[in-house]
Amino acid sequence: MKKSVTIRYQQLGDAKRFYEILNSPNFTYFPAKPKTIKEEREFLRKNKEWREQKVWFNFTILYGNKIVGAVGVHCELHRPYCGEIGYFVDEAYWGKGIAVKAVQLLEKFAFEELDMVRIEINMLKPNKASARVAEKAGYRKEGIARSKLMLDGEAYDSYVYGKARS
Ligand SMILES: CC(C)(COP(=O)(O)OP(=O)(O)OC[C@H]1O[C@@H](n2cnc3c(N)ncnc32)[C@H](O)[C@@H]1OP(=O)(O)O)[C@@H](O)C(=O)NCCC(=O)NCCS
Repeated sequence: MKKSVTIRYQQLGDAKRFYEILNSPNFTYFPAKPKTIKEEREFLRKNKEWREQKVWFNFTILYGNKIVGAVGVHCELHRPYCGEIGYFVDEAYWGKGIAVKAVQLLEKFAFEELDMVRIEINMLKPNKASARVAEKAGYRKEGIARSKLMLDGEAYDSYVYGKARS
C-alpha cells in the first residue's frame, strides 16, 4: 500500500535525521549542510521564535511515520502576504512524488492559515529536479533572478517560479 505524505512542525529530535539527509554528497544545489547534529539542533531550536515572529514556518515531511525531509515557507519581511517555499527529501526516497505533495500541503497552510496571496520557489538553474517539483505543483516559471542564491559563498542566478492564490 502507498504510504501517505504528511507534514508537521519540526522538533528538536529531528536533528539527527536532518543531519544525515543533508550531508548526502548528492545534495549538489542545496546550501545548508550542518557540520554536526548539535549545529542542526541549534537551528531547529530557533523555529518556535521564527513562527512567533511570523518569519519562517518549517515543517518535517513524514512518509508513513518515517522522517524523509523538510519543507518550509519564509515570509517576506515587508510583504508578509508573499512567501518563498524551500524543500529537501532524503535521496533514498527521491522520485516518489514526496516533494510535490509536501509543497501542496504547505501551500494550503500558507494560503489559508497565513493568508498569503503569492508564493515563489527559487532554484539554481541546473537544479532540474527542483524545477520539476515546482512545475508539477502548479508553479509558473516567471523568469531568472540574477545572483539570487548563494552556494559556497558564490551568488548564482536562479529560476523564479510563482503561484498566486486563486
Ligand atoms: C528536489 C527534491 C526535493 C525532489 O524531491 P522528490 O521527492 O524526489 O520530488 P518528486 O518525486 O515530488 O518530483 C521530482 C520530479 O523531478 C524529476 N527529476 C528528478 N531528477 C531530475 C533531473 N535530473 N532532471 C529532470 N527531472 C528530474 C523526477 O523524475 C520527478 O518528476 P516526474 O514525477 O515527472 O518523473 C530532491 O531531489 C532533493 O531533496 N534535492 C536536494 C535538495 C534540493 O535541491 N532542494 C531544492 C532546493 S531549491
